Amino acid sequence: MKLRTVLFSLAAIGFCASASAQAPIVIKFSHVVAADTPKGKASEYFKKRAEELTKGKVKVEVYANSALYKDKEELEALQLGAVQMLAPSLAKFGPLGVKEFEVFDLPYIFDDYSELHRITQGPVGASILKKLEPKGIVGLAYWDNGFKSFSANTPIRTPADLKGKKLRIQSSKVLEEEIRSVGGLPQVMAFSEVYQALQTGVVDGTENPHSNTFTQKMHEVQKHLTVTDHGYLGYAVIANKKFWDGLPADVRGQLEQAMKDSTAYANKIAQEENDKSLEGIKKSGKTQVYVPTKEEKLAFKKAMLPVHQKMEGRIGKDLIQSIYKETGFDPAKL
Ligand code: LMR
Repeated sequence: MKLRTVLFSLAAIGFCASASAQAPIVIKFSHVVAADTPKGKASEYFKKRAEELTKGKVKVEVYANSALYKDKEELEALQLGAVQMLAPSLAKFGPLGVKEFEVFDLPYIFDDYSELHRITQGPVGASILKKLEPKGIVGLAYWDNGFKSFSANTPIRTPADLKGKKLRIQSSKVLEEEIRSVGGLPQVMAFSEVYQALQTGVVDGTENPHSNTFTQKMHEVQKHLTVTDHGYLGYAVIANKKFWDGLPADVRGQLEQAMKDSTAYANKIAQEENDKSLEGIKKSGKTQVYVPTKEEKLAFKKAMLPVHQKMEGRIGKDLIQSIYKETGFDPAKL
């Protein structure tokens, strides 16, 4: 009888020990866009790969659409350790004090994804991610979204058509200057508030890649959209550094592999998701989509180019030049 009690107790202790050994490491991954976007799909892909590769040792909980936190709050939550991973857009790191990310916001600095990848997949991009470490953040990868279009309730053919318009932007000083360069009035606002602000006329228009415009139904409250491709919007996938560094080495390696796989996936689907969204916007019949001619596009470029020089003091002239060198951008050749 006594022996049975002892055996039972030992079994109970063993059960508790193995249960706690098997309790998964939970990663809360928060973001602000719809699930059906390049970032939304890539974060779900990361969840799948991370759980597969770690054989369930890690459980990833993805919270889309600002369900957990809005733009500014999510960065605070990451630093406090309330969430472990995020993928904020590159335009949202300025308020954190890492202004170099705003180099990606310079109008027309990248002509296409291949130019962009020379930075995001090369040493310049890696050196920018490194700047997050003193903030308690580790930069894991860049995920693509796409090139932005302007939208409003009136046609946009020339930069002058944006004059005096209140245009919602992300929290980036470069974007503020971009809007001012065409005579617009920049309004910084969290992504989750944009639809309502457009609907109620708090702002007149905005800029975003088509995947964001379409999945947030912004096109339903904007009569005109012009495919200006005037700037890039993409993401840095980041983690709380203390959490990341504290992971068992094998698990961290598996998560790094999962991140590699999901980055390849994100960058593969980004353009097709944006193309599909543009088709969706056209088909909705709610927004008139205009594709500017080469000359019309050049007028936007010329109006916005002074932003590069104006922002040298904030972002760093050397950084801007190093991007020009990688991509072959030559402001004198416009
Ligand atoms: C925005 O605020 O417009 C974007 O940064 C949203 C996003 O994460 O794509």
